[in-house]
Amino acid sequence: MAELVEVRDDKGHFMKMKKYDGRYYVNHFIGNVKDHLAAIEAMNVRDDDTFVVSYPKSGTHWTYTIVNMLRKEETTYPGSLTFLDYTDMETLDNLPSPRVFATHMTFDLLPKQVKEGKGKIVTVFRNPKDVFTSLELFARKMDHEEMKKNYNTTWESFFEFFMDGRIFYGSWFDHIQSWDKVRREHKGNNIQYLIYEDMKQDLRSYVQKLALFLGVSSETEFLEAVTDKCTFRNMADEATKEFTPSEQWKAVMKDKRLPIYRKGEIGDWKNHFTVAQSDYFDEVYTEKMKNSSFTFRFV
Ligand code: A3P
Repeated sequence: MAELVEVRDDKGHFMKMKKYDGRYYVNHFIGNVKDHLAAIEAMNVRDDDTFVVSYPKSGTHWTYTIVNMLRKEETTYPGSLTFLDYTDMETLDNLPSPRVFATHMTFDLLPKQVKEGKGKIVTVFRNPKDVFTSLELFARKMDHEEMKKNYNTTWESFFEFFMDGRIFYGSWFDHIQSWDKVRREHKGNNIQYLIYEDMKQDLRSYVQKLALFLGVSSETEFLEAVTDKCTFRNMADEATKEFTPSEQWKAVMKDKRLPIYRKGEIGDWKNHFTVAQSDYFDEVYTEKMKNSSFTFRFV
């Protein structure tokens, strides 16, 4: 069963999280973590299920929105995402097909059937300096009392927790290494790998690539409509509208607008990192990524 743990820096800043089997989870992860992980492992996967998998702040909402539109063959915004992590199994089981799920968990914790090749996985990665920047600035917006009780951090303390992996969903570097292993070992052809910076550069091509991967309509007019709906500007405009918050949002925010769309740029980290933080980050990155098959653009 998960235990509630507190990580601290030497200045008294802290984060309280669930910890199970050596990994950290957000507090609104379902129940004692163990039982929900077991239910996810045993989940009945359908052929047209799609799992959008990412480390937080890597473009999850963006990718999910594109996949959802393609899968459903319509250009309606999905609102808040259906996360495996925060939705009970009965609700997940009863969703109509085609189902699109998001998760911040790694491949090893996905349903057994999808790991064996049933259904599809789309995974998206982003350069970690922008991931960190997006995550820390997002954490500041959390205005629910429970969140304030559990998180008392500054940019510096958050940086420390992020760099040594004492953070919900663990170290970004471990996340990448786990996917390197999947790339080496996974036998199926049901995984599409995406890079945020590439999508930013040429969204239309990646919408097409995803349509092909999912085996859905690739009519030019439809793909162009999806591309247009999924630009940062149009998604950010949509998010200024009120929506019905899911349980996951109720746990962290009182505001009824999705606080996800901030800048949507490559390289905003430069406006926030100190030179010393950037140098230290580069050192750790060089060491930890030396055997990785992933490469990232930081500007
Ligand atoms: P920033 O905070 O850097 O702006 P996630 O969905 O994984 O939480 O990721 C959120 C990040 O993705 C935010 O980054 C958000 O602005 C960015 N994002 C969301 N939609 C986007 C889009 N259509 N194009 C580019 N970036 C997008």
